[in-house]
Parts: sequence; C-alpha cells; structure tokens
Amino acid sequence: MLSASGLIKSYGGIIALKDLSVTAVPGQVIGLLGPNGSGKSTTINMLTGLLQPTRGQVRWHGRNIHDDLLAYQSVLGYVPEEPRLYGYLTAPEYLSMIGGLRGLAESIVNRRIDRYLELFGLDSDRYTPLSSFSKGMRQKVLISAALLHDPQVVILDEPCSGLDVASTLILRSLVRTLAQQGKVIVYSSHVLDMVEKVCSDVLILHRGQVVAQDRVDHLRELAKAASLEEVFAALAVDTDVETVGQALAEVARA
Ligand SMILES: Nc1ncnc2c1ncn2[C@@H]1O[C@H](COP(=O)(O)OP(=O)(O)OP(=O)(O)O)[C@@H](O)[C@H]1O
Ligand SMILES: [Mg+2]
Repeated sequence: MLSASGLIKSYGGIIALKDLSVTAVPGQVIGLLGPNGSGKSTTINMLTGLLQPTRGQVRWHGRNIHDDLLAYQSVLGYVPEEPRLYGYLTAPEYLSMIGGLRGLAESIVNRRIDRYLELFGLDSDRYTPLSSFSKGMRQKVLISAALLHDPQVVILDEPCSGLDVASTLILRSLVRTLAQQGKVIVYSSHVLDMVEKVCSDVLILHRGQVVAQDRVDHLRELAKAASLEEVFAALAVDTDVETVGQALAEVARA
C-alpha cells in the first residue's frame, strides 16, 4: 500500500502544495488532475521520493520511503514529465542501461526490449539515436524503461504527452491491465478524458489545494455532471477560455 499523509511543499515561502493525503492499494489507479501549475508534478515528485516534502510523509507498506529510498525505488516505475534521455544512445542501448541499473539479467532485458520495441512500433528505429526520436517515440521509450523491471508501483506524470491517438488508446489499455495485475498506479494529467477512462479515483488540484477527492464515478454523480469535464470546470477552471483564446489570436495583429 502506498500512502501519503499531510503532504505540503513550499518553494522558498511559496506553497506549491497545501495538504494532500491519499492512499492507494494494489489495483487502484489514482488520478491527479489539475490545470498547469496546480501541483501535480510536485505531488508526483514527492511520491517518487525525488523531492522531500516540506511536511508530511510518503509511506510504502507503512514505512517512510526516505528510510530506505533505494528499496522503494527498486519497486517503482516512473515516467517523468520531461523526457531526459541520452541522445547519443539508441533505444535498445538506453533500455539495456536501465535494465543493468535495475540489476536484471542481460538475456531477460534483451527479450523485454525486443517486445517493447515491437509492440510500440519502434523496431525499425532500433539503430536510430534517441536525439532523432520524436516526442511520442521518446515517450514510448520512457514508458518501456519504467516497466522493464515489472515494478509494483507505477507513477506516470503526463504520460500521453506527445502520443498519437492510437498510442494513447494503447496506453489506456496498458494502464488498466497494469492495475489488473495488482500494481499501484498514480496517473497525473490535465487530460480529463484520460483520467476519467483509466482512473478509479481522482484528486482534483487547484492552486496547490485538493478541491475534490473521490471515486471518479462518485464525483460525477455528486456533482450531477455528465462528465468529469463539467466537475473540473466547476472546481478548477477560473479562466474565461473563449475570451483568452480570442485575445491571444489578436495579440500579433494589433
Ligand atoms: N523547483 C521549483 N521552484 C519554485 N517553484 C516551483 C518549482 N517547481 C514547481 N514550482 C511551482 O509550484 C507550483 C506547482 O507546480 P507543478 O509543476 O507541480 O504544477 P503541475 O500541476 O505539474 O503543472 P503542469 O500541468 O504545467 O505540469 C507552480 O506554481 C510552480 O511555479
Ligand atoms: Mg506537471
């Protein structure tokens, strides 16, 4: 079980996350939903152990993850928001390096790499350096790298960024299947549809504050809304999107 209690993060006096508590059991997909700058990545970074909370704790099976971060990270698969890959490596070279760092046997890693490349349609690019990969292709490498060691916890920060329609649908099915396998999943996105379709539970963040936290179906019901989009619009969108969009299009014409 993964649990966060009373998570607070401030950056030099500015509070990026006010007070977040959540518990995730195997099979559960927790969605973090919120507009830009609402604190999703800050939360994710604390759940992965990359960032120390200013207050509060993240626990894995009851133990503070910072007590033995290596042990926790050995069961964690993480897809970061920014793809930081070594551009001069090819996808198999990069994944094989990750497999080595994870302590996996070379023969197992090679077999898994072949399958990931094949399933993600990257086989014909196995000799292409990652610097020549498109955003979506890089994202597929990052997802493969996160899953290579069959983690118990999978944390994804905006994982469908750059993915085309088919790949997004594949990702959706992948996340659902990972949940069925009994993994704990945390999924951050500002794409409502995706959260609605893959997550069992959702936390809606707005300016660092949790403004709603419930089961996806329950939340929709409570707000008497047809979709999560309406709930989200009511809770976390305080911009007149039409007016701003039209004004942006006019800036360079004035
Ligand atoms: N390293 C940092 N130093 C100072 N402030 C930061 C830092 N990282 C994030 N913040 C601030 O914390 C707030 C939350 O940022 P965060 O990256 O968690 O948002 P987000 O919900 O992931 O947004 P996005 O949808 O754009 O990825 C923002 O106001 C941001 O400016
Ligand atoms: Mg973010």
